[in-house]
Amino acid sequence: MKRISLLVFFFLNSVIIVSAQNKSSKIEIDFQQKWARVEPSMYGIFFEEINNAGDGGLYSEMIRNRSFEDHVAPGGTVIRDKKYFCPATPSYFSGEVKAQSANWNTDSLQRWTFQVSPDAKATISVKTDAPLNSNSPHYAQIDIQQASGKAAVSLVNSGYWGISVVKGENYNLRFFANTSSDYKGTITALVRSESGKVIANKVISLENKSYWNEYKCRFTATETNHNGTFELELDATGSMMLDFISLSPANTYKNREIGFRADVAQMLTELKPAFFRWPGGCVVEGATLKNRIKWKETLGDPAQRKGEYMKWGYRNTYGFGYHEFLQYCEDMNMHGMFVANVGLSCEFSNGDYCAEDSLEFFIRDALDAIEYAIGDVNTTWGAKRAAAGHPKPFPLKYVQIGNENHGPIYEKRYNKFYTRLKSAYPQIEMILNGVATGAGSVEVLNPKFNVDKIEIADYHWYDGPDWFYDHAFLFDKIQPRHNFKIYVGEYACHRKVGAGNMFGALSEAAFMMGMERNSDLVTMTSYAPLIENSNGRKWPVNMMMLNNHQVVGRSSYYVQKMYAGNRPSFNLSTHLLNNQGMAVDTLNGMRQYAQAGYNEQTREIIVKVVNATSDVFSPQLSVQNSPRLKPVGEIITLSANNPTDENSFEAPQKLFPKSVQIKNVSELFQINFAPWSFSILKLKCK
Ligand code: AHR
Repeated sequence: MKRISLLVFFFLNSVIIVSAQNKSSKIEIDFQQKWARVEPSMYGIFFEEINNAGDGGLYSEMIRNRSFEDHVAPGGTVIRDKKYFCPATPSYFSGEVKAQSANWNTDSLQRWTFQVSPDAKATISVKTDAPLNSNSPHYAQIDIQQASGKAAVSLVNSGYWGISVVKGENYNLRFFANTSSDYKGTITALVRSESGKVIANKVISLENKSYWNEYKCRFTATETNHNGTFELELDATGSMMLDFISLSPANTYKNREIGFRADVAQMLTELKPAFFRWPGGCVVEGATLKNRIKWKETLGDPAQRKGEYMKWGYRNTYGFGYHEFLQYCEDMNMHGMFVANVGLSCEFSNGDYCAEDSLEFFIRDALDAIEYAIGDVNTTWGAKRAAAGHPKPFPLKYVQIGNENHGPIYEKRYNKFYTRLKSAYPQIEMILNGVATGAGSVEVLNPKFNVDKIEIADYHWYDGPDWFYDHAFLFDKIQPRHNFKIYVGEYACHRKVGAGNMFGALSEAAFMMGMERNSDLVTMTSYAPLIENSNGRKWPVNMMMLNNHQVVGRSSYYVQKMYAGNRPSFNLSTHLLNNQGMAVDTLNGMRQYAQAGYNEQTREIIVKVVNATSDVFSPQLSVQNSPRLKPVGEIITLSANNPTDENSFEAPQKLFPKSVQIKNVSELFQINFAPWSFSILKLKCK
């Protein structure tokens, strides 16, 4: 005889009465109990120049150290004994004088090699006497004293871990040369495969002599090779100065002359991001204050951009600059989020900071950034945007006041920035830095921000899988609700999960379920970091990995894509009942989670289910009080044979969501969820 029990207990701060009992566990959905609406802003992108995510990643430049500036010291540091030293001033956060230092590569020709043929005599040096422009003070000078025809010397670049070309594809070359009048030769641009074969080339005649000339040409690869070199060959005696040697595939996102790699941009498009955060991350603040990203220096002709060393270990060309960020937001129909420096360097680095009386410079800088993005064309910075070819405002919607800055000095500055920025631009939503890294669970429940007004607070969490599984109900516990919204601006399961495996991705899926369920409070989220060039990985786990010719989504990428592509309009009351009929957070203390919502446009009930166990999960699915369900539905499943499975360059789609039709959908039916899986069930309403 079936046992009938009446259980009363508290779940998600509401009283639930469970009456019927059966042998199977159950996902119980009640269409009449509508929970929070899920904001269109929910899923966005965090971008930072880390792991060569931009240079050597999304940005299509193929030449490394294109302007011969890579040896230039990080802003605010001095070089001694092949080390850089940060200023010996106290950290704004701890008061500690860190005076950080690190090894420094002083080689001005790094990433380049100079080859002289046996019958030639020539030298190369990096000079500053007659620069291309003041922002790019260094250039290479080649002096050829003896040459006997072809290829006397070659200036060779190996790009970002190899030059990759594809048979039949076109490549755009741009460079500047200043040639002595006695140079009677040509210059040949070529790509050589690793076996030494020339697989693309173009002979360029040099016309105007003795001042800097710009050269542009396009050539086609005759073979595919991913480990080649790019070379400029000179064939006569004389001297030549070279600078800004830039190569890009012609096939870029939107076919821009130099822009974003088409394959990487395509993967980002598929994430359907609502917003794009730029420029970071700790690089907003810099290893020292002078090392911060200076958005104004990222504007204009890329050949005129200074660039700056990133605290993640390499120089940023600034090729992916503020204008490109805003343009990308417009192209992708995303809102822009600009992160402004508040006169503080990174507290995890040197922590040096500007004096209070210099703060106006930084406030002005943030105001100018907003003006550049959305100001009238008659304003100073709006006019610069128009001059750059974009009179229309860009879709900038958010400004974050500092990145991972905390403590009384930050809070005082936040108030000043907030007041000034908000009064000038009431339409821009302002974001406060919340809590960094790990220890946030207590803080998120009891925030103690000593500031006047918060619209949105940004919280960051990086931790192991247990933390994410255990905190899948973190946001449910916030009672009463805050009077501000939460933006989970950086989070990822980045420990004890290899380079990003299925177990980690499932823990994120469980945590995301909690964010989506509590979307009255959590209105924006972005996984971080976004991209690694696997040759330049600085952060242990990243959403996507690439090399010079492949881009791979890790399982976390597919979890993100599944969430963003299946965002409900609002959540529906959802409870998991165990086989005793008891409502539980996660079944049997096991890692099984479910949440349903409804999409008003598609008229679908969307049920998200995490089964982070080695067993098939076979609950009954009960949908109460809903419009009539069509018998045929769909289930999209991302699953793995083993929790430690990862995608790789060799098996990029080992973990990949698959969609299957399901039949016999009704108001009460049984369904199987694969072991180690994240599934999205779509039930169509009549
Ligand atoms: O995402 C990597 C780093 O983590 C970011 O630069 C910083 O904001 C956080 O500490």
